Amino acid sequence: MRALENIALMALRQIDPEVAHGLAIKALNTGLGPRGGPVTTDRLRTTVAGLSLPNPIGLAAGFDKNATALHALAKTGFGFLEVGAATPRPQQGNPRPRLYRLTQDRASINRFGFNNEGMDVIAGRLANRPQDAVIGLNLGANKDSEDKSSDFAKVLSHCGGFVDFVTVNVSSPNTEKLRDLQGKAALAALLAKVMEARAGLNTPLPVFLKIAPDLSGDELAELAEVANASGIDGIIATNTTLDRTGLHGPYRSEDGGLSGQPLFEKSTRLLAQLAGLTHLPIIGVGGVGSPEQAYQKIRAGASAVQLYTALVYGGISLAGDIAGGLDGLLARDGFSSVSEAVGSGRSDWT
Ligand code: FNR
Repeated sequence: MRALENIALMALRQIDPEVAHGLAIKALNTGLGPRGGPVTTDRLRTTVAGLSLPNPIGLAAGFDKNATALHALAKTGFGFLEVGAATPRPQQGNPRPRLYRLTQDRASINRFGFNNEGMDVIAGRLANRPQDAVIGLNLGANKDSEDKSSDFAKVLSHCGGFVDFVTVNVSSPNTEKLRDLQGKAALAALLAKVMEARAGLNTPLPVFLKIAPDLSGDELAELAEVANASGIDGIIATNTTLDRTGLHGPYRSEDGGLSGQPLFEKSTRLLAQLAGLTHLPIIGVGGVGSPEQAYQKIRAGASAVQLYTALVYGGISLAGDIAGGLDGLLARDGFSSVSEAVGSGRSDWT
């Protein structure tokens, strides 16, 4: 299967990245890709914000924006999945091209702008989700919404009954003014609306907040203060960056959010800093492409990890490979569980 996947990856890398991504999703849905289900061991099993995860390696938002590959993805090795972002109304997103591969840097730049089929269609798919997987939904706001902060609550009320967690995404760089919602007053008001919407659900579910890696120390401290007081259940750190330091190739100055290897250090430093400002569990995202990098995020303070861009270069089998490799690293260092290792190397990053 690995050899076949490598050939497919080589072929996909010759074509337009957005077309290639669509083909990769189709291939998954036709049964190509790993089918063994989540990798798990006693050491890897963990609980984050009340969610029981077979392993702490999750799929980050944006890979399956419209929840079209839930059944296939649930078999790939990931311990949990996040789909979306979903907005109240369907929207096209920005004009193409809007996704670039920075192959030499093992990175991507995207300026999709929340292209998605909208919460009605996505809720329909989530209603038929695999029941044995842990699935969350990334909440977004429509570009032309008069009241962006209410959009998050709307999508939560509409789809919350079908998922295990939701993520308030105020950190995408591709929707104008969205990142302004990370400011103290705006964030407090937004999270209050979201928590009210959650209280209206039949079964309450964990709410996570996803943040940008480009926050200053002061901005991060303020954000943590609001998050701590808000009643949310965790923080996802981080989304893509606007930083363009040290990149190569013709696409290095494209507008949008940068993800992949160049984001690893920046997002891990912010995660370690955040871990000193909150007792909420943190999910670490940004540049994870190996078991060692997943382990470093956990040692910096993450209770679980997510990834996306490394899959473009390493294939979907990476999910299981990273989970299996992480198990070995935990064992090597004498940890009997993921939770024991959380934050054990934070001082290396602060
Ligand atoms: C993303 N990401 C993202 N995040 C989010 O919260 N909502 C979204 O809709 C999207 N969409 C999206 C599309 C594309 C093409 C990419 C590459 C990324 C961000 C993603 O979830 C993750 O936070 C970053 O990509 C950093 O992780 P990786 O990719 O370096 O592992």
